[in-house]
Amino acid sequence: MAKTNADFTLRSFIDQVAADDAAAVWRIANKVNLDHDVTAVAMELERRGCSPVLWFDNVAGYPFPVVCNLFADRRRYALALGVPPDRLIRDWGVLGERRLSPVGREQGPIHDVVATGNEVDLGRLPIMQHFACDAGRYITNGVVIAKDPDTGVRNASFHRMQVKGKNRLGTSLHSRRHLWNYMRRSEEQGRHMPVAVVIGGHPTLAFGGLWKGPIGTDEYEVIGGMMGTPLEIAPGITVPVEVPIHAEIVLEGRILADVREAEGPFAEFTGYASKRSTEQVIEVTAILHRRDALYHDIVPGISDEHTSLLAVPQEARLLGTLHTHYPNVTDVAYPKSGTCRLHAYIAMHRPAPGQAKLVAAAALGDDLSLKCVVVVDDDVDVHDDSAVLWAMATRMQADQDIDVIRNAMGAILDPSTRDGLTAKMIIDSTCRGADFPDRHTLEAKAVARARELIGKKFGRPA
Ligand SMILES: Cc1cc2nc3c(=O)[nH]c(=O)nc-3n(C[C@H](O)[C@H](O)[C@H](O)COP(=O)(O)O)c2cc1C
Repeated sequence: MAKTNADFTLRSFIDQVAADDAAAVWRIANKVNLDHDVTAVAMELERRGCSPVLWFDNVAGYPFPVVCNLFADRRRYALALGVPPDRLIRDWGVLGERRLSPVGREQGPIHDVVATGNEVDLGRLPIMQHFACDAGRYITNGVVIAKDPDTGVRNASFHRMQVKGKNRLGTSLHSRRHLWNYMRRSEEQGRHMPVAVVIGGHPTLAFGGLWKGPIGTDEYEVIGGMMGTPLEIAPGITVPVEVPIHAEIVLEGRILADVREAEGPFAEFTGYASKRSTEQVIEVTAILHRRDALYHDIVPGISDEHTSLLAVPQEARLLGTLHTHYPNVTDVAYPKSGTCRLHAYIAMHRPAPGQAKLVAAAALGDDLSLKCVVVVDDDVDVHDDSAVLWAMATRMQADQDIDVIRNAMGAILDPSTRDGLTAKMIIDSTCRGADFPDRHTLEAKAVARARELIGKKFGRPA
């Protein structure tokens, strides 16, 4: 039977995760505090190498269960897209190019409970403080839907939101991408920017929020393409922005033109308490939610959840872009050691002389956050830090193979940048010269014999 939007909800996806692997969803009945506890459980599990979806039934007596850590494991991204885990990056790129126009409905489950005017109170939601350094309570899973002030095209993007009052949020547009561009034009026209903030839904809603492409692309069409069925939407109640009717919670409101207020510090993907912010303010005009809504949080900071969300779409996009121009680019990784944002590793098959540097330069131009790109041959696994460091140790000479571009635009959140400017480094760690030695290898038959021997010794096949 063809799938409908009712099959693409947060709850249906968690059921799917549990059906795939019952141990991958932990339901916690014990009462936990609103602030700090949820994050501490996720981070402690991460320290032990575990990354289950966490579902807290009793957060400080709030009526909404809290779900987090959903995006901490890449296998769940593959499950959400219905692709094999080892094809995630390539298939993400393909599915991200598919477009399906949304279909309009009058209303849906998101309208079960609607609060407007004086009834709006963000304090009713279990919005929590995550890390000790945070300036306050933050929505970490807010996907902002906004319309281009000139064309009406819809954009979706994640933005952190600090609770400032019953109907007031502080936010930051530091990625300086489409919403930042919309906001600049809106302010030039002297207009506030109407928005809908989606908190919780099927993972493809989040993937749409992370999708980066031409500014003229309607990202509700991208979400439909990733789901494989049109997204069902309904008109906003207080804003001229449509909302996905199967989401868990939606806030409607407007980003105020020409208003700036201190926002942060907040624990960011860099592993630091970031004080840097573009300091916008959102006035909330309505809160919509399902009757039995789940509050979906993303573990911020340099958690596996936050950093994987940054890495997966970037790897897919950069691989696609580079491969178009350099078909011998075979793989791309954004390693966690580089915050999944600031460093990239690129593998190439037999690069021509000087080609590795061109590819690295193209990557730096494509992604303003990158500050270090290491290019290796395709015998090196770019998803393994130690393999890349080994290639640097044995194939690279610093005086010839490292290039530095000074004073380029960088990631605002990188605490080492000065006035938004950074140095960009290219490290060509590919083998050069016909006389470069071969890697040592084992004889295949000896490996087979060794496996048999080891299997017998331990009583199971190796
Ligand atoms: C969990 C999470 C939180 C994010 N928070 C912010 C934020 O507070 N401000 C920001 O500018 N970008 C933030 N980003 C990055 C943007 O959402 C991302 O760059 C997005 O692709 C931009 O969309 P666009 O290219 O359609 O404009 C966040 C990303 C994630 C995964």
